[in-house]
Amino acid sequence: MSALQLLIVALAGVAVAGVLGAFVIAYRRSEAAPGTSRSWRSGVSRETRKADRSDLPSPVVARRPAPADEVPEAADDMPDVRAEAVPEEPSGEEEAAVPSVPGAVQAVEVMRVEELSPQEAGVNRRQFFTRALGITFGAFLGLNGVSYLAFLWPRLSGGFGSDIDVGAVADIQAEVIQGDGSILPKFVPEARAYIVPFAESDLSRSQFEGMPVVVGGLSALFQRCVHLGCRVPWCETSQGFECPCHGSKYNYTGEYEAGPAPRNLDRFEVLEEDGRMIVKTGTILQTPRAVAKTVPYPQGPSCIALTTADEV
Ligand code: FES
Repeated sequence: MSALQLLIVALAGVAVAGVLGAFVIAYRRSEAAPGTSRSWRSGVSRETRKADRSDLPSPVVARRPAPADEVPEAADDMPDVRAEAVPEEPSGEEEAAVPSVPGAVQAVEVMRVEELSPQEAGVNRRQFFTRALGITFGAFLGLNGVSYLAFLWPRLSGGFGSDIDVGAVADIQAEVIQGDGSILPKFVPEARAYIVPFAESDLSRSQFEGMPVVVGGLSALFQRCVHLGCRVPWCETSQGFECPCHGSKYNYTGEYEAGPAPRNLDRFEVLEEDGRMIVKTGTILQTPRAVAKTVPYPQGPSCIALTTADEV
């Protein structure tokens, strides 16, 4: 796994851990003990608090009856209301509901409803899920964008899509042309390419004349069948490439010979640097079916018995 893939996996893990952590925090807040100020504050949405504020006069005033010793003596012609005014100390929500006594002097206690800042109010469930959804969707889009960018971005060093050093030209020449004169292409997995011999003297009579596809008597063929994309294996006996999927066949220079393939095998641009062969896997060259072939095919029994109506 490459460093970029590891980075993407790590970012995905961090995003998932972040969402889970936010979920746990919000869940604990919602599970706080009822009756505490923290509980009712976090459980009420901002919209609800706004609606409440708009319905209430500000500040809210509640009347509490004065203590008995503060109630002045009533005039003789007035009834003694002290006992009625303060039957017992009210508590809790009953404070706001204490009736006023006509004619009595009353102490007034002002209760102010303070507006909570967003930090004090916290995040309710709806806000949490909205934000979590947004974060998850954003992380998904971000990671996908990074993945696509990494896939499409030409690699600057190493790997398919970059310029790959496949070895010394002299070594490859000795490797692909056997002692008995038969051909054994060199497969380079990193470049997804077969390195095959291609006599430079044959260039002028081939359809590749003028194209930078031969260096040091070598050419690089893309391993993929141009019909539907199967990897085309080498057939030792026929000295060609024969696709097992639908029977397309190509000679060892990649020229079309038979089957449903619409063109020759694709090939890469190549160059030589300090005696080494460089395959530019970011540049794939396509050519139509060859009419005049540069090498004979087949040179022996075919590896696949499959034939098609298009076979010639
Ligand atoms: Fe090779 Fe169809 S994929 S012949």
